[in-house]
Amino acid sequence: MFLIRQFTPKDFQQVISIEKDAFREHDPFLYMKLYEMSSEGFLVAEKDGIIAGFVVGILISDIEGKIFSIAVNKKNRGCGVATLLIKTLLNTFRKKGVTNVELEVRKSNLIAQELYQKLGFYVIGMAPRYYCDGESAIIMRKIINH
Ligand SMILES: CC(C)(COP(=O)(O)OP(=O)(O)OC[C@H]1O[C@@H](n2cnc3c(N)ncnc32)[C@H](O)[C@@H]1OP(=O)(O)O)[C@@H](O)C(=O)NCCC(=O)NCCS
Repeated sequence: MFLIRQFTPKDFQQVISIEKDAFREHDPFLYMKLYEMSSEGFLVAEKDGIIAGFVVGILISDIEGKIFSIAVNKKNRGCGVATLLIKTLLNTFRKKGVTNVELEVRKSNLIAQELYQKLGFYVIGMAPRYYCDGESAIIMRKIINH
């Protein structure tokens, strides 16, 4: 059973190790900045004291949220952890009055695109050469009904 809760600084090492393993672009300091900016949208999934995954959501305006980053450690993938993290984040956004949530995902990352589609996100455009290595991003949006 995974517990979804807010990130605290003592989770930093575990979160950064998941992040390093999951992404080609790696920036630990960014995560502390994101926590300072938006602690409510920084959630972790914990099981038996171990962090299995995290999501970072930020508010762009009073009605717009963004999923900045999500990752689950390899041994806990495919068990619904990301789904649980995103659903909890969407609830946090809903309580704050957010109506639109957007995200960018690598064009090649079909697993993440499928995850987002299952959660009601749809493609609204593309950002060419969005990532440092030149890969384009697919931009997705979900409308939150109140
Ligand atoms: C993308 C990621 C966060 C998914 O985490 P997860 O906890 O395994 O996802 P879930 O178990 O909640 O899966 C939800 C859906 O995602 C899709 N999915 C997950 N793993 C998949 C796989 N190996 N192959 C195909 N689809 C997959 C499925 O549609 C799945 O729904 P289903 O269980 O009904 O089949 C995880 O693979 C990860 O950390 N990847 C590296 C980081 C990353 O790509 N982050 C997204 C950046 S935009």
